[in-house]
This record gives sequence, C-alpha cells and structure tokens, in this order.
Amino acid sequence: MDKFLITGGTPLNGKISISGAKNSALPCLAATLLTAETITLHNVPYVKDLITQRRLLEDLGATVLTPELRTHKVSASNIEIFEAPYELVKTMRASVLALGPLLARFGQARVSLPGGCAIGTRPIDLHLKAFEQLGAKVSLESGDVVARAPKGRLIGADVNFEKVTVTGTENVMMAAALAKGKTTIHNAAREPEIFDLAELLNKMGARVRGAGSETIEIEGVENLSGAQHTIIPDRIETGTFIVAAAITQGNLEITNCEPAHLKAVIEKLRETGVEIEELNQSTLSVKCCPQGLKGKNVTTEPHPAFPTDMQAQYMALMTQAEGDSVINETIFENRFMHASELVRMGADIQISGNSATVHGKTQLMGAPVQASDLRASASLVLAALAARGETVIDRVYHIDRGYENIVRKLSSVGANIKRINDSSEQKTAEQKTAEAV
Ligand code: UD1
Repeated sequence: MDKFLITGGTPLNGKISISGAKNSALPCLAATLLTAETITLHNVPYVKDLITQRRLLEDLGATVLTPELRTHKVSASNIEIFEAPYELVKTMRASVLALGPLLARFGQARVSLPGGCAIGTRPIDLHLKAFEQLGAKVSLESGDVVARAPKGRLIGADVNFEKVTVTGTENVMMAAALAKGKTTIHNAAREPEIFDLAELLNKMGARVRGAGSETIEIEGVENLSGAQHTIIPDRIETGTFIVAAAITQGNLEITNCEPAHLKAVIEKLRETGVEIEELNQSTLSVKCCPQGLKGKNVTTEPHPAFPTDMQAQYMALMTQAEGDSVINETIFENRFMHASELVRMGADIQISGNSATVHGKTQLMGAPVQASDLRASASLVLAALAARGETVIDRVYHIDRGYENIVRKLSSVGANIKRINDSSEQKTAEQKTAEAV
C-alpha cells in the first residue's frame, strides 16, 4: 500500500488549478446508460472512483473512449448486462447510480446492495422506496437489489424524500427522465452536482426543471439522445486547497474553480480569519492570516449549508485556531475517524456523539497516521503540512479515490510531499496521469 511522506512547516505559495468534480462526473457517467447515442463528457477528473465507474460501464457492455485524458466518449448502444456486481460496489458505493438509468431504459437492474462504510451505515432505502413509487418491483436476492419495471417502463410519480439524499435524488432524476408521465421530487438535494446532472440530462433531451431547488419536476420522454457536457469544478477540492493555504500561512491563487458553489465554506473560513478574495468568477486568492485564526463553530448540513465533505479539513484547520471550536456532524453518524489521528499529531479534540470540540491552538507534530476515508485523508495531509517534522500517512488509496494529482499539485506550490511505493511495479492512478500528460 502506498504512503505519503510529508515534511511540514512550509507556507504554500503559487497557483493551483482545480479538477472536475468527482461527485458530478460519477452520476454524469451513469447517465450515459440512458441512451444508445454517444455522450461526450469533458473535465472528468482522473481519479480512482472514475476509473471504477468507467469499468462498470464497460462491464455492462458500453464502449468508453478517452481521446484526451479527461474526455470520456461513452456509447451505451450495446448494453447486454444489467448488473453491478459486489466486487465493484464494495470498492465504490456510487455504483448504485447505475440502478436508475438501467431500470429506466431496460426495465431491469441488479446491483449489489452496498454495505456500511467507515463513515456510517449509509443505507439506500430511500432510493429503493422511490423506485417503487415509480412502479418498480424491488427485491433483495443473494445480497443484490433486483429491480424491475413490470411493463418495461417506469411511471412518473410524486417522490417525497424523508431525508435529503444526493445520490438518491440523482438516481430518481435519471429514472424519471425516461418514465411515462411526470415525476415530482420533493425535498430534493440542492447540491451543484444535482444541477450539473440536470444540465446534462436536458442536453440529452430530458425535461428536468427546478434542479438546484427543493422541488424538481421531470416530464418523462420516450428516448434520450447524444450530447456533450463539461463537468463543473470540484468544490471540495477547492475548499481543501483553501484550507491548505490557510493552515500553512501561505498565499495561493486557486484557478478553474466555481466560488459560487462553496459560499458557506468561504463564509465560514472568512469568519475564522482566512482572507479569501474572488479575483474573478473562477479564481480565488487565499492568504492567511496576519491576525491569526480564531476558533469558530460549524454544523454540517445539506447544501447550501456547510458540507460534510469539508468537515474533516475544517477540523484540521481549527487545531491551528485560537480558542474552542465545536464541530457538529449531522449527515453521517461516524465521521470523526480523523480526530483520533489528529490527536496523535498533537491536536486537542474531544468527541461527544456527533459533536467534536477542538481546543486550539496546538503545535502539531509529525507522526505515523492512517487514512480512514477520502476526506479524512485530506485532513491528515493538511495537518501534516502544518506539523513540525515528518508525517507518514498510510492507506492513501482513500485519497486516490477523489483527489487528482494531489502530490503533484501540492509540490508545485512548495509542499514537501512524496509518495512512497511499496512496490515499484505497482503504479498508482496519480503516476499514470503524470506519465500520460
Ligand atoms: C453524497 C456524496 C458524498 C457526500 C454525501 C453528503 C456522491 C457520490 N457522494 O453521498 O461525497 O458526503 O452525498 O453530502 O455524490 N440516507 C439514508 N437512506 C438513503 C440514502 C441516504 O438514510 O437511501 C442517509 C445517509 O446514510 C446519510 C444521509 O442520508 O446519513 C445523506 O446521504 P446521501 O446524501 O445519500 O449521501 P450519498 O449520496 O451517499
């Protein structure tokens, strides 16, 4: 297993460019299953989860060409299998996004039921209930979700999510796009990735209105066609690099981003003392912090509030802020795995239920630590950049799932970070990208 070796204490300075959003590229790739015509997606980040999603499409019978590294041309004209097996789903939960499109276009789908993961039990009951409301028969067979549309086609319906679910909303949007009649999704997720998927679906000929609001209306159509679409910038990668500048007392220009997608993060970080300036619609300048950082409380909530995917990185930053900060996690029940690793590096953090109190400021010291999930790994990288001495982060395959070229990007702005390979034969996604560009 690969590790990162980071020597902290250097302020980051320079320009860093943001990649396409993993969480948008995943549903957009799944949406290519809705049509026999070719879909071209640009700005697809070269990260492990997208390689897995591509493999899933190919296993189902789709052809995926990459004329350029971040462009995927998908033709799903020859789908013969309607199944996402356990081997894929266990490595990436977002494989469940195949359910909606397969069910909508072919009237059948079989997808292994994802188990829990490091951050919580993460059921998909709300996806399944919604498919039933659209007329599907759903059962569990040998650990797989088996869904069928009795007459071959789903029927539009009112879907009222009792809890906001991002991939649940995306799955239903895709399923409803080819259903007979109108579907209204109430209490829909409002994340920018939902809007991006709706843009793609509408370019394919779907009739989706209201994406980005709590109520989404989808008028089902008979067929969808080919389209081209560019994936939005990754707002969580953007937020992570803002924190990287702040935690190292550096000065970064972050380009190719979409500041409007992370208003709550920018607002909260400004409250703590981070200086963030919007140079233009896609560029941020981040400086930190003549007066030092102040501890501020935060609560994670569905968009447009502060995202759970920035909670771990924010916690790392708060170890460097004066005073106490209380971090409430309301989305996932077990998303503080990074806290005990940060404590090993010298942080003072107390956990009580879904609330963590960070007592700052503490000097962080390099230590061997373990990544437990994608965003937890990002928080350890950030802490290591601020720490005195060397940190070795184990299990960085978690970070490879969602951060494109993080070692190269951070090195280019002065970070002392190296990937250590256990085996020279084992090439990582990041090395392959480095070779390909
Ligand atoms: C998506 C994101 C993930 C982010 C999360 C919350 C992708 C690929 N992943 O995950 O990065 O952290 O949104 O912003 O876009 N729930 C149920 N039943 C369901 C579905 C969800 O109880 O059927 C619960 C979950 O356990 C969780 C909450 O609802 O407590 C929100 O989860 P959800 O929005 O569905 O997360 P994902 O779509 O899996």
